[in-house]
Amino acid sequence: MGGRQKEIDAFDLIVARTKRDLPNRGMVLSGLRGVGKTVLLNYLRSHADNHGWFTIWLEGKPEAQGFTEVREKFARELTSAARRYNGPSRKTRLREAIGTIQSFNIALGVPGIKADIGMTSDRANSGTIDIDLEELVEDVSLALKADKSAFAIFIDEMQDLDQELLTALITVQHAAGQRGWPFYIIGAGLPNLPTTLSEARTYSERLFTLNRPGFDGDSRYLISTS
Ligand SMILES: Nc1ncnc2c1ncn2[C@@H]1O[C@H](COP(=O)(O)OP(=O)(O)OP(=O)(O)O)[C@@H](O)[C@H]1O
Ligand SMILES: [Mg+2]
Repeated sequence: MGGRQKEIDAFDLIVARTKRDLPNRGMVLSGLRGVGKTVLLNYLRSHADNHGWFTIWLEGKPEAQGFTEVREKFARELTSAARRYNGPSRKTRLREAIGTIQSFNIALGVPGIKADIGMTSDRANSGTIDIDLEELVEDVSLALKADKSAFAIFIDEMQDLDQELLTALITVQHAAGQRGWPFYIIGAGLPNLPTTLSEARTYSERLFTLNRPGFDGDSRYLISTS
């Protein structure tokens, strides 16, 4: 990954701190079209996977078409991450949390994969996304905490997430920080993303470290003044 050591180091630090049960902020990568945000986000995700994290990948889409699509993707990604996860808690707490994942998916309106990974629970089934997402994140991330692992949601084109999901995600990142849950949103998007986050929740800037890949150290984007 040429020219991206600063962002990779910052993410490495989150992984290392998680292993020691220390708190972290989430991360936001923002920059113009074509600077390499998606490539970098993918790299960070595979890095997290290699360290045994429970990871999912979402992509924001403009509201009208994106609303249902992103929820369906969320549900599929949760199911597949639950299948892949291989830490010790797979046999204990994560196994219980899988019921919460099932309920969450059904509450999202995506019951199609129900039979796949087992029973539902009475968690994350209120039908109100803020509440359900918080219970999902609590159950999954506390299961992972025992493994010194973390739950991470990688979100590309994050500025295009619908307001409802965006606000719920920021709110739960905030709750996770306060309660010591190893849960991190790693988002990528256009230069307006930090403003979009702050407008959704004023405390957003305290929840994320902001990185601008390609903003410096990448000669392609230096403007010549001579
Ligand atoms: N670190 C890098 N060094 C050199 N080339 C890179 C690097 N990262 C990405 N690229 C190349 O730059 C191009 C754009 O990358 P990418 O799609 O990740 O950008 P992006 O910021 O996500 O763009 P968009 O905002 O349009 O989604 C790709 O062709 C990719 O291969
Ligand atoms: Mg991109």
